[in-house]
Amino acid sequence: MDPRSEVLLRQSALFTGNLLLAGLPADDLLAQLPAAHGWSWLVGEQATLSSRFVERCQFGITAPERSFEAAVLFLPKSRELCDYLLHALAARLAGRELFLVGEKRAGIERAAKQLQLYGRPRKLDSARHCQLWQVTVDQAPAAPDLHALAQRYELPLADGPLSVISLPGVFSHGRLDRGTALLLQQLDNLPAGHLLDFGCGAGVLGATLKRRYPHSRVSMLDVDAFALESSRLTLAANGLEAEVIGGDGINAAPLELDAILTNPPFHQGIHTEYQATETLLRQAAQHLKPSGELRLVANSFLKYPPLIEQHLGPCVTLGTGAGFHLYQAKRQPAPTKARREREPRDPSRRY
Ligand SMILES: C[S@@+](CC[C@H](N)C(=O)[O-])C[C@H]1O[C@@H](n2cnc3c(N)ncnc32)[C@H](O)[C@@H]1O
Repeated sequence: MDPRSEVLLRQSALFTGNLLLAGLPADDLLAQLPAAHGWSWLVGEQATLSSRFVERCQFGITAPERSFEAAVLFLPKSRELCDYLLHALAARLAGRELFLVGEKRAGIERAAKQLQLYGRPRKLDSARHCQLWQVTVDQAPAAPDLHALAQRYELPLADGPLSVISLPGVFSHGRLDRGTALLLQQLDNLPAGHLLDFGCGAGVLGATLKRRYPHSRVSMLDVDAFALESSRLTLAANGLEAEVIGGDGINAAPLELDAILTNPPFHQGIHTEYQATETLLRQAAQHLKPSGELRLVANSFLKYPPLIEQHLGPCVTLGTGAGFHLYQAKRQPAPTKARREREPRDPSRRY
């Protein structure tokens, strides 16, 4: 059980009614609070929750339409996203209760100050390195317009500027990340065909690829509903069309790709998380055509080349800068029958 859920359950008498759990973890909480409904914007959490609680968990960037008596927000990492979510929930809760739960190291005390906008917040509990806060919404705000909170910047490309639009909570909100900038400098000589932007965020890479290689099919994949919507906005703002896929990890990606380009995730919430990237490196070969290519940018301290070489092929460093390395590797052709018989198979290699 997530520690934030444990803290809620210590006060379970407060949560017996028709409650909305916004940004809830994929644990047993919905089983413990049978009148509650969930709202998730992460594909992986939503898949786990809806496999157990069909009809009780909704996915998306806006609060479910159905009415609720009270709501709990699980503190998200991004301050801008937290502000948007608190406003969106408070707007629906005039005279009713809004709760906020989160880990101390995630900044729950700072976030709880935001509750003063709606009434007089009270700290109800502190345990498991988390705090639970409550406010009765005396001053309900107007419902926020999410798209009005989008930020936009222009990327100067050879054939004209590209507009990049990001919603609150999306990676590198309102500005180009330095790692992504390094990758954008090295988009020459990609194979024609089907290109994947893995972990597309606001869609800067995928949109640049589609602009640069208009005859290629471009797919853009992310786990986060706010990133997916941002990518759609970025594509639309530039008159581009590409496939935007909601998926948790490389398993959700198409097969027979000609190239995978990525500035991959290594954080999820406040915790360091390498799993999605390591799974990508282990399974990229299964999604690439023979000789298909991976280009990946990562902080220099992340030691991905051994994993790339083990699962894909020889790894070349195409560029470095601002603390980042850009790696390239091509899927090796499957060994011939004669070579397979000469060289015993390394079970960890998949190509
Ligand atoms: C470092 S950001 C890069 C975003 C964008 N490509 C850019 O360069 O600005 C990594 C992205 O991966 C996404 N992500 C995290 N875990 C993921 C997963 N399991 N599957 C797919 N995408 C994931 C995050 O939501 C985030 O948008």
